[in-house]
Amino acid sequence: MDSFAATQARMADLDDRIRAAPSRFRVLTGERPTGRLHLGHYFGTLSERAVLQSRGVEVFLVLADYQVITDRDTLENVADNVGDIVLDYLAAGLDPLGTTIFPHSAVPSLHQLLLPFLSLVTEAELHRNPTVKAETAASGRALSGLMLTYPVHQAADILFCKGNLVPVGKDNLPHVELTRVVARRFNERFGPVFPEPEPLVTTSPEVPGVDGRKMSKSYGNAIALGMTEDETAAVIRRARTDGERRITFDPPRRPGVSALLTTISLCTATPPEMIADEIGDRGSAELKRRATDAVNARFAEHRRRRAELGADPEVVDSVLRSGIERAREIADRTLDEVREAMGMHYLRRP
Ligand code: TRP
Repeated sequence: MDSFAATQARMADLDDRIRAAPSRFRVLTGERPTGRLHLGHYFGTLSERAVLQSRGVEVFLVLADYQVITDRDTLENVADNVGDIVLDYLAAGLDPLGTTIFPHSAVPSLHQLLLPFLSLVTEAELHRNPTVKAETAASGRALSGLMLTYPVHQAADILFCKGNLVPVGKDNLPHVELTRVVARRFNERFGPVFPEPEPLVTTSPEVPGVDGRKMSKSYGNAIALGMTEDETAAVIRRARTDGERRITFDPPRRPGVSALLTTISLCTATPPEMIADEIGDRGSAELKRRATDAVNARFAEHRRRRAELGADPEVVDSVLRSGIERAREIADRTLDEVREAMGMHYLRRP
């Protein structure tokens, strides 16, 4: 079996196990709050999280705010970004009662796990991580100590709550692999405390931005979930298409045109070739009009809910307050178990 087929088979098996016993799984996943969430997040991960939750799996979402400064100097707008992301989570259907949403900076015990974890990995292992290498190169900066140890920090994000299922994009697989190594070595050295979490690789297709490259805020090609209809229209209007009147789906040769077809396809669940045939000779202007209408229609309800929830600042506050409280309780308990396993309980129990 090639690796793609093997991954597909493993995912199908995992899916069966989740359906059979959802309560055996605890999902932990999240993101760095570097900006607003966009269509790439929605089709890539948000909808998947909502599905897992609807199957009865407990979901934890970490906003990895300390990790914002792995590849930049400042945390600019981090508080706004956190609030904005929470609104998108809620509008996408994540149930705040069943989901623990928290910025990890607010959970001190989680970070203390980093100390024993760091003792379990070598410098050479940290330097070999391909994603850390790629992200450092992309940042154009020297490798900071925080960037180098980022995957171990992510292990703390996952293991503090004994998360055993971690939905991630494939770029993030080396980090989940390292989390498994850390859990295994901890258990071998100090006694059984942690599960070895399984990655759940997102199977949805990569969402292209309006220029055909992967959708990313840093490329300036993203449609944010929270944009207005007019902002959406403006981004799509600026998309680089080409002068051929006849619209065809041909990603390698016509990246801009094909990206808009893919966007319409995702929003309307229609194959991109069929949309291209419908537009026929009516050219880019018609393609852009349809793309704008498709995005605005698909997200009208999401945006309406998001605006309604955002109108009362207490909504986000209370979601974060209860998320932080629950995450702290769990992190304190896990840290206690860790210190106990390590023989670091010095005071006699009353
Ligand atoms: N590293 C992830 C990203 O950049 C974000 C993240 C932090 C994460 N901690 C995590 C993802 C724990 C999954 C599990 O997208």
